[in-house]
Amino acid sequence: MTKFWPILLVSFSLLIAAKPDPIAAQQSLAALADEGQRLASLLRVGRGVISNNQDLINDPTIGDKGLSSAAFMKAVEANYIELHGTAPLEGGLSPEQIRLTEAQLASMSEVMDEHQDLINSEGMAFKGFIPAIFARLVNERFVSKLGDDAKVKVTAPLHLVRNRKARPDEWENAVLTDKFNSADWPKGDAFYEEISVDGSMTFRMLIPEYYGESCLSCHGGPKGEVDVTGFPKEGGAAGDLAGAISITLKK
Ligand code: HEC
Repeated sequence: MTKFWPILLVSFSLLIAAKPDPIAAQQSLAALADEGQRLASLLRVGRGVISNNQDLINDPTIGDKGLSSAAFMKAVEANYIELHGTAPLEGGLSPEQIRLTEAQLASMSEVMDEHQDLINSEGMAFKGFIPAIFARLVNERFVSKLGDDAKVKVTAPLHLVRNRKARPDEWENAVLTDKFNSADWPKGDAFYEEISVDGSMTFRMLIPEYYGESCLSCHGGPKGEVDVTGFPKEGGAAGDLAGAISITLKK
């Protein structure tokens, strides 16, 4: 009799394993949403450091701005710690979280390295190096590092899109119009779900972004007037939906 025990145990555990476990499934979706928020937060911190240094970057009287990639990354780390209490790569991260965060940090550092000549050019005031451009370049670099595994993109409702690379795809457009633009959507709440893309399960998340006062010199009114970047202003107001950070993670 005893020699059957192992077989019985194996088949019993197979039975348990075959049963769907809704709690584990929920946890994994929550963990993915958590990862999406982490990626979005680090991107926002990076954009914030550009924003805090915008006047310096735009100063035509200074050559070397002292905003090397090392100085920039130091500020990113400090601001991230202030926000979350831990550095981007600390806090008991999983190997996958470390891989994504390292790729995002490396993308930021590379973009800063590649724009030193522009940032440090004397005699030029507005250089077009603004948070939105920085974020797009970082996200493009991130995608080039990780391929289909992970994507970060800033998108916007179709009528607001400036750069055609930021155009929402079908899924993003549906979430922007049906959810974020609806009157009863709780302000700031992200939307996420797992969907099948080309036969594999993919986590998709959209985190809304709204205009604040600081955005309105470019995105505010009067609508149609050309802003400092050469784009017509959208006529937005503080609190209006500006766009969204879109996260895609392959499972
Ligand atoms: C100095 C002008 C300026 C300011 C200030 C500014 N933006 Fe933008 N924004 C731009 C430009 C230019 C682009 C297009 C960047 C590109 O080519 O990728 C852009 C792009 C965007 C996008 C991506 C979608 C698109 O249209 O390509 C969003 C979302 C956005 N801005 C939101 C904001 C928010 C929110 C703020 C304030 C926190 C802000 N912007 C402040 C100029 C500005």
